[in-house]
Amino acid sequence: MKIISSIEELRDQLSGQLRTAFVPTMGNLHEGHLSLMRLAKKHGDPVVASIFVNRLQFGPNEDFDKYPRTFQADVEKLEKEGVYVLFAPTEKDLYPEPQEYRVRPPDDLGNILEGEFRPGFFTGVTTVVLKLFSCVQPRVAVFGKKDYQQLMIVRNMSKQFALPTEIIAAETFRAEDGLALSSRNMYLSPEERAEAPALYKVLNEVAAEVRGGHLDMFELERQAMAKLATRNWKPDYISIRKRADLQPPSAGDIAQQSPLVVVAAAKLGGTRLIDNLEI
Ligand code: PAJ
Repeated sequence: MKIISSIEELRDQLSGQLRTAFVPTMGNLHEGHLSLMRLAKKHGDPVVASIFVNRLQFGPNEDFDKYPRTFQADVEKLEKEGVYVLFAPTEKDLYPEPQEYRVRPPDDLGNILEGEFRPGFFTGVTTVVLKLFSCVQPRVAVFGKKDYQQLMIVRNMSKQFALPTEIIAAETFRAEDGLALSSRNMYLSPEERAEAPALYKVLNEVAAEVRGGHLDMFELERQAMAKLATRNWKPDYISIRKRADLQPPSAGDIAQQSPLVVVAAAKLGGTRLIDNLEI
C-alpha cells in the first residue's frame, strides 16, 4: 500500500484510473470501517482510503484534540484489506490556505437532527468530502449507514453538483451486543460500555411498536427518550423520520406506509453516541 500525503503525488499515482472506489475516514479504524473497504472492493478498483481528522467539522467544544489517532495500527489494518493507496494529508496538505469556500447543505437537511445539535457540522463534512473527491476523483465512494444523515447529505450533494461519484451505502457494523462500532466508543468506561447497547435496544423497541401499528410517533419518541433518561442517559433526540428526506412523516405519509427510519443521539456520561434503525 502506498501512503501519500500530498495532493499532487496522489493525482500522479491515480492518473488514468477510471474505476477508483474511495472510502474516506478519520482513522482509528475498526471493523465498521473495514467492512466499508470490503464493500468498496466489490464496486471498484483500485480501493483508495483516506485518513484525515477534519477540524472543519468539529465544534469549538468538541473532541478534535482528543479524537483518537492510531495511524500505525490503521496502516496495518488497511494493508491487510488490500487497499492500494492511503491518502493521509496533513492539515497543511489539504488546507494550504484557510478553507474559505464552503459547501453548505440545505437547512432542511443540514440543520436538523445532528445539524441542530452540532451547528456547522455538516458544512464541515460536505466541504471536506467534496475536496477529498476532487483529490481522489473516485467513480464510487462508500459511506456507512451508521451516520445516516451524513450519508444522505453526501449523496444529495453528489447528485446536485453532478459529481461523477456514485455514493454506496454500507450497513451498520455492530458488536455482538448490538452496539454500533464507533471510534468514540473508546471513551466509554467499562460500566458505560455495558450500558451502551441500550440505545440500539430502544430503537428496536420503537421500530417494533411502529411495525405493530402504534402510530403516535410523538408518543413513541417521548417514551423512548424517557426510558433512556431513567437509565442515566441524556438523549438529544430520538426521532422517527421518513427515509426519503429525514422529515417527520405526516398522517398521509404514515397511511401510505412511507419507508421510515428512527434516528437517535444520546449522551452516556461524557460520550455522545448516535445510532439509527430502518423500520
Ligand atoms: P468516520 O467517523 O471515521 O467514519 C468513516 C466512515 O465509516 C463513514 O462513512 C461512517 O459512516 C462509517 N462508519 C463508522 N462506523 C461504522 C459502523 N459501525 N458501521 C458501518 N460504517 C461505519 O464519518 C466520518 O469519519 C467523517 O465525517 C468523514 C466522512 C470521513 C468526513 O470527514
